[in-house]
Amino acid sequence: MKMEKDVYILAIESSCDETAAAVVRNGREVLSNVIYSQIALHTEYGGVVPEIASRKHIEKINQVIEQALTDAEMKLEEMTAIAVTYGPGLVGALLVGVSAAKAISFASGIPLVGVHHIEGHISANYIENKELEPPFICLVVSGGHSHLVVVKDYGEYEIIGRTRDDAAGEAFDKVARAIGLGYPGGPKIDKVSREGNPDAIHFPRAKVADAEYDFSFSGLKSAVLNYLNSCQMKGEAINTADVAASFQRAVIDVLVEHSMDAVERYGYKKFAIAGGVASNSGLRKAFEEVCGKKDITFYHPSPIYCTDNAAMIGAAAYYEFQKGIRHGFDLNAVPNLKLGERI
Ligand code: KG4
Ligand code: ZN
Repeated sequence: MKMEKDVYILAIESSCDETAAAVVRNGREVLSNVIYSQIALHTEYGGVVPEIASRKHIEKINQVIEQALTDAEMKLEEMTAIAVTYGPGLVGALLVGVSAAKAISFASGIPLVGVHHIEGHISANYIENKELEPPFICLVVSGGHSHLVVVKDYGEYEIIGRTRDDAAGEAFDKVARAIGLGYPGGPKIDKVSREGNPDAIHFPRAKVADAEYDFSFSGLKSAVLNYLNSCQMKGEAINTADVAASFQRAVIDVLVEHSMDAVERYGYKKFAIAGGVASNSGLRKAFEEVCGKKDITFYHPSPIYCTDNAAMIGAAAYYEFQKGIRHGFDLNAVPNLKLGERI
C-alpha cells in the first residue's frame, strides 16, 4: 500500500493589520501560528491606516516567517508548499505577503499557492474540528465582510447572503467609537455588554426586501447614533453598557435569524461561523442555544483562529494544493478578489 506523504505548508497572511505566518500539516494540524498584531499602532487613529500597516508588515514579515519555522521545529526545505493570502484586503498590505511568498518560492523552488482570505476564515473551522467536512453553511462575519456561504465542497462556495452596506465588524467598530469605547470595537463591546441589559433599548433589525439572506447594518448604526444624540439633547445620562448590549443583541438577532433560515432551507445539519466577529461571546452563545434546539451541529474556531491568522490560510491552501492549484511568479495582490474566484 502506498503511503501518502505529509503535506507541510508555510502560510503567510498580511491582508490587513496582522502580520502572520504558520506551519500547518495536512491542512488540519497547526505546528506553529505566529501573529504580530498592529492593533496598538492603529488605535490612536481610531482604525487601520493602510500606509502604516504596509510599512509595519515590511518590518515584521521576515521575523514572523522565521519564528513560524522555528516554533514548528522545521526547516524551509521541509515545506511542501508556500501559501499566501492574495486578496481581498488592503493592496499595499497584501503585496508585502505576496512578495515575500514569491521570493521564498523562487529561491527555494517550493511551489506557491495563493489563497482567498475569506476561504481562509471558513477553513479555520477545519483546524479544531477534525471531523468537519463540506457541505455546510458558514456565516463569515469580519471587519470587512458579512457573508452567508454555502460551502459545497473544499474550495467550492456559493454566497447566498451578503451585507448591503457595513460589515458586522465595521458596525461594532463604529458604534464602539460613538459610545467612547475606542478601537477595535468588537472585543470592547463584547466585554461591556456583559454588564448591560440587552433589552434596555430596542434598536431595529433590518430586513432587505428582495433578498432574504442579505444584511444591512448601517441603519442600526444610525439608530444608535440617533439614540445617543437624543439622550444628549434631553440631558439624559447614557448607560454605555445598556447601549452596547442592546446594539449587540440587535446584530446577533439578525445574524441568527438569517443563518437559521438558510440552514433550514438547505437542509444541512452542520453550521459554522468564522471571522473576527465569530469570537463574540454573545453570538457564540446564541448559536449554541439555537443549534442545540434544532439538532444542528455548531462549529466555531477558537478566538485566536477567528481573527486574522496564517494557520487558517495554511488550512485552506492544503485543499487547494491537493486539487493541483499552483501559482506562478506573476501572482499579484487582488484587493477585491471574489470568493471562489481564482486568478
Ligand atoms: O477577521 P478579522 O480579524 O479581520 C478582517 O478580516 O476584517 O475581523 C476583525 C473584526 C473587527 O471589526 C473587530 O472589531 C471584530 O472583528 N471583532 C469582534 C470581536 N473580536 C473582533 N466583534 C465582536 N465581538 C468580538 N469579540
Ligand atoms: Zn479577516
